[in-house]
Amino acid sequence: LREHEEFTKVKNVATIELGRYEIETWYFSPFPPEYNDSLKLYFCEFCLNFMKRKEQLQRHMRKCDLKHPPGDEIYRSGTLSMFEVDGKKNKVYGQNLCYLAKLFLDHKTLYYDVDLFLFYVLCECDDRGCHMVGYFSKEKHSEESYNLACILTLPPYQRKGYGKFLIAFSYELSKKEGKVGTPERPLSDLGLLSYRGYWTRVLLDILKKHKGNISIKELSDMTAIKAEDILTTLQSLELIQYRKGQHVICADPKVLDRHLKAAGHGGLEVDVSKLIWTPYK
Ligand code: ACO
Ligand code: ZN
Repeated sequence: LREHEEFTKVKNVATIELGRYEIETWYFSPFPPEYNDSLKLYFCEFCLNFMKRKEQLQRHMRKCDLKHPPGDEIYRSGTLSMFEVDGKKNKVYGQNLCYLAKLFLDHKTLYYDVDLFLFYVLCECDDRGCHMVGYFSKEKHSEESYNLACILTLPPYQRKGYGKFLIAFSYELSKKEGKVGTPERPLSDLGLLSYRGYWTRVLLDILKKHKGNISIKELSDMTAIKAEDILTTLQSLELIQYRKGQHVICADPKVLDRHLKAAGHGGLEVDVSKLIWTPYK
């Protein structure tokens, strides 16, 4: 019932201020009632506390001593940093992040139980601090082998490759865990587009380099992408044939080259040598 309620509620907060951006929101988010009649909310870009008035934010900024998300910096390459925030250790931050994210996520239920999640917050850093670009959340333990629950690139940063960077990062974590992973369903249209793009790129690159036959299982072991996702991706690229009750990859070089041209370029790469991380226990 709660899900349905949230799904059908009309947008409550029209814009937010976050760091140097004013951002128009997309969807309803279940802020506590006292915030619901605010057309605009003011977020502290570091601790993500939100306020109804600009003066409150200004007062807050004078005393807030965070200059980056709480938690551990687990990746740094150039000006890009990734922070891992444990929802149990940083409950308020986790909740604030969920309220913020829901403004741009339509179909997702909000997780009130942030304890069960880790949040990976991507930042662009400069001398003023680390500015959040986007994030993804991940269950500490997933029965369904989900390696990502929700993903968001904040609108001012969209379409620059950060979404695919976040997706790539989620698979690098899965590789370190020695597990395959898949994003939680349902995916939004933009989510599906980004995943399709990522899967396509990764698989085409391997097929292009690989000589001889390769199985879906082997691809899955190499990439941590779940076999089903590999199958649907290769099927949509028409690189799969069904022979004697088996799916067989037919990587015709001409077809590969055609797809590779269409797939565009890799964009922002995750430099695994700069990831310092051990799986959650
Ligand atoms: N229109 C058309 N194509 C788009 C658009 C758009 N508005 N936005 C992104 N794309 C395409 C890009 O061209 C790129 O395609 P390519 O693979 O052919 O190069 C691909 O999507 C990924 O682009 P990125 O720049 O890497 O992704 P971005 O930083 O924009 O983030 C994301 C993608 C996270 C899905 C973002 O759109 C977003 O936050 N949307 C709102 C929240 C959302 O829907 N999240 C996913 C929900 S599903 C889940 O959480 C499991
Ligand atoms: Zn703050």
